[in-house]
Amino acid sequence: LFQPERENSRGWDLTAVDALAEFDAGRAAFRDAKWRSEPILATEEAAEGAEVLPVTNPADPSDVVGEVMMSSEADVENAIAHARRWQAPASTRGTALRRAADLFEENAHEFFALTAREAGKTPKDAVAELREAVDFLRYYAARGEELKDPARGTFACISPWNFPLAIFTGQVAAALAAGNAVLAKPAESTPLTAALGVRLLHEAGVPRDALQLLPGAGKVVGAAITSDPRIAGVCFTGSTETAIGIDRAMAANMDPTAPLIAETGGLNAMIVDSTALPEQAVRDIVNSAFQSAGQRCSALRMLYLQEDIAEHFLEMLKGAAEEMGIGDPWSHATDVGPVIDARAEKGIVEHLEKAKREGRLMWQLDTPAKGHFIGPALIKLGGIEDLEREIFGPVLHVATFKAGEIDAVIDAVNATGYGLTFGLHTRIDERVEQVTQRVEVGNLYVNRNQIGAIVGSQPFGGEGLSGTGPKAGGPRYVARFTEPMRIASLP
Ligand code: NAD
Ligand code: ALA
Repeated sequence: LFQPERENSRGWDLTAVDALAEFDAGRAAFRDAKWRSEPILATEEAAEGAEVLPVTNPADPSDVVGEVMMSSEADVENAIAHARRWQAPASTRGTALRRAADLFEENAHEFFALTAREAGKTPKDAVAELREAVDFLRYYAARGEELKDPARGTFACISPWNFPLAIFTGQVAAALAAGNAVLAKPAESTPLTAALGVRLLHEAGVPRDALQLLPGAGKVVGAAITSDPRIAGVCFTGSTETAIGIDRAMAANMDPTAPLIAETGGLNAMIVDSTALPEQAVRDIVNSAFQSAGQRCSALRMLYLQEDIAEHFLEMLKGAAEEMGIGDPWSHATDVGPVIDARAEKGIVEHLEKAKREGRLMWQLDTPAKGHFIGPALIKLGGIEDLEREIFGPVLHVATFKAGEIDAVIDAVNATGYGLTFGLHTRIDERVEQVTQRVEVGNLYVNRNQIGAIVGSQPFGGEGLSGTGPKAGGPRYVARFTEPMRIASLP
């Protein structure tokens, strides 16, 4: 497959003393800042009297980060009525999106502070989040310039809280690069990061009628913009359950050719066989299961260890996990920040308590008392078939397998119906081939961690219950936002 040229964000090397000092000095100005999000409409006037809610820090709910004015029904109607395709030439659109990428980098410190306080991003996660957003802007700008096909119309872009900047920006940038109008609906918990992103996109030259922001509840604003016949397509990232509901609403209300581009959840597994390098596998498992407090769709949920090595390997894994720092995401000593809110915390705690009652909780790191924290944990299972649902937090389930059972393990993983990421640690080339041929997933990672796909070089997205494709950050993505057209003419 043709891989177009790409240019990734320069990033911030937090192991370099100067870069670290600059990072800390820059974001310090925003330690106590307050932000505001509200409907950002083409007409520049949101309806008055709408509900205003506080936005709080998941690590410390007494820290009010800002407030959000929810979009009213009138705002949604106003936004749909005034949305206009971005008619400018592709090169003009590309220039504005690249300018937005530069502005995002110029405002990096504000994003680092805001994503730490609104979404619990550790310094490492905050940097990765910004880099990915910048990468999406530049990569999709270039892909849009290569396309000749016309835009579809107005896209509803609905994003989750776990990548409040990267996924939010990726969806919006792809739809805009193709020349569509966008109604962007951020997650309820992270409207402030989205608002800063939209203001910078407008400053960069994206017209207000091509990009409008509609903060609000999924069941209200999200439902309204995914069931309106004036909407030409939906780009959604979030849970599989919500995606299925949107699919049904679209089928009942919209043009049957309107695309649903959905990236959803996963029950992601990894196999570690007896030939794996233990130190490397342990490092990659800790990273894949616990970084971002396990709140990545790509995160490792189900580890399969070959029986012969399991006992020794688990001791090494616990030893490495014990070293993790859990707490305030602002601190450089923190590896594991909070989960997003009280509801998420409660759901994960219930899962852990059930495992404890059943004698399957193998280990857990101490959990800080204040804030929405969950100490990373290991739970024993018979196999992935015992995992009832995606546990969206720092919880790793572990099972063992015997030599000769690899096909059965893969069949069990395939049988879940999900197909997002899969990890394999082995030194046997034939085993890599065996797994590659059999496993049904979007992203297979061999002898490395299984999170953190890089835009342009690792297009990301699942199959089955994990998504419709095309892969984000890949060469086919922006084309899905256009109306494919072929012109055949005779002289
Ligand atoms: P969610 O489905 O609850 O919410 C996602 C978005 O959908 C939010 O903006 C929400 O307001 C909106 N929404 C909710 N109900 C809606 C409705 N009826 N109509 C329209 N919109 C509605 O998901 P979440 O909890 O925010 O995110 C976590 C989930 O996202 C996990 O399952 C995770 O695996 C998945 N995810 C997938 C990817 C991927 O690339 N595959 C990336 C990140 C997150
Ligand atoms: N794209 C994100 C990752 O690869 C979800 O972890």
